Amino acid sequence: MEVSIIGSGTMATGITQVLCVNDQVTKINLIARNDNKALLAKAVCEKSISRLVRKGKLTEAQSINALEKIYPSSLLSSVIASDLVIEAVAEDFIIKMELFSELYNYVKGSTIIASNTSSLSITAFGSVLPNSKNVVGLHFFNPAPVMELVEIVVGHETSEDVVQYLKVFTQNLGKSPVVVQEAPGFVVNRMLIPMINEAVSILAEGIATAVDIDKAMKFGAHHPMGPLALADLIGNDVNLSIMETLYSETGDPKYRAHPLLRKMVRANHLGRKTKKGFFEY
Ligand code: CAA
Repeated sequence: MEVSIIGSGTMATGITQVLCVNDQVTKINLIARNDNKALLAKAVCEKSISRLVRKGKLTEAQSINALEKIYPSSLLSSVIASDLVIEAVAEDFIIKMELFSELYNYVKGSTIIASNTSSLSITAFGSVLPNSKNVVGLHFFNPAPVMELVEIVVGHETSEDVVQYLKVFTQNLGKSPVVVQEAPGFVVNRMLIPMINEAVSILAEGIATAVDIDKAMKFGAHHPMGPLALADLIGNDVNLSIMETLYSETGDPKYRAHPLLRKMVRANHLGRKTKKGFFEY
């Protein structure tokens, strides 16, 4: 099958890596805002794939085959022959809606259009595409090559056939899918991001240092990494955006973003991607 992945960030490159080594996928159009970004995104995949070769998890021949499937592009029209499009651009409702409205011109009604959104409405995205029955959430987790879960998010119009198709597709990628009805934050982020927000509150109140907050959750709750290191891995801009969605969609004050999280984003302390967040990289 032919897939298009739109985006050039951590999730787009991670998903591309997962798909290019899989036999179900024969071609991937990796579509970014400009040629340079698309080429850089492919280079990121190349680096990860070569690490897998060094570790003996992939042969040289398999890695060449995987990378040959990836076609970097800056043209949205490259999606034209795709069976599946996966959007993984910035977590911003307006940016995504503009992208889907433009995509309307290039996709067939039979193409499945999936969004990797962490919390936004699939139903709204479907409303500007030719066939809302084929619009669905396909939410991978970071780092996509490592995390087993994929949330398949069912919008108001999403068809059962599409859900079943993606269940099989993601299982064949080696992932463990769960089906989730559309709701702000779906399942994981509705719990995970408020936990991170609470860790930010604990830090802001001076109850413990960032190191000790993380140590507490690693050794007291067996989390693989502490909430503040996880905040830096996800990106504080994404954490803030998800808190804003939870709050605006529900109106529930328990989802209020902590002012320190907002301040971190304003200071561009986004985490690993800007080399500074709750920790330095
Ligand atoms: N890309 C590819 N592979 C990676 C990777 C990356 N970015 N980071 C780590 N890995 C691989 C390593 O190569 C290593 O592979 P091998 O075992 O084959 O050697 C393996 O993962 C373990 O890595 P490390 O030994 O370096 O480190 P670790 O054991 O501490 O694991 C971790 C790192 C997998 C990130 C682990 O700490 C973890 O699971 N953390 C929690 C991550 C998490 O909760 N993610 C969800 C975020 S929420 C989200 O994504 C949703 C959203 O919408 C915001």
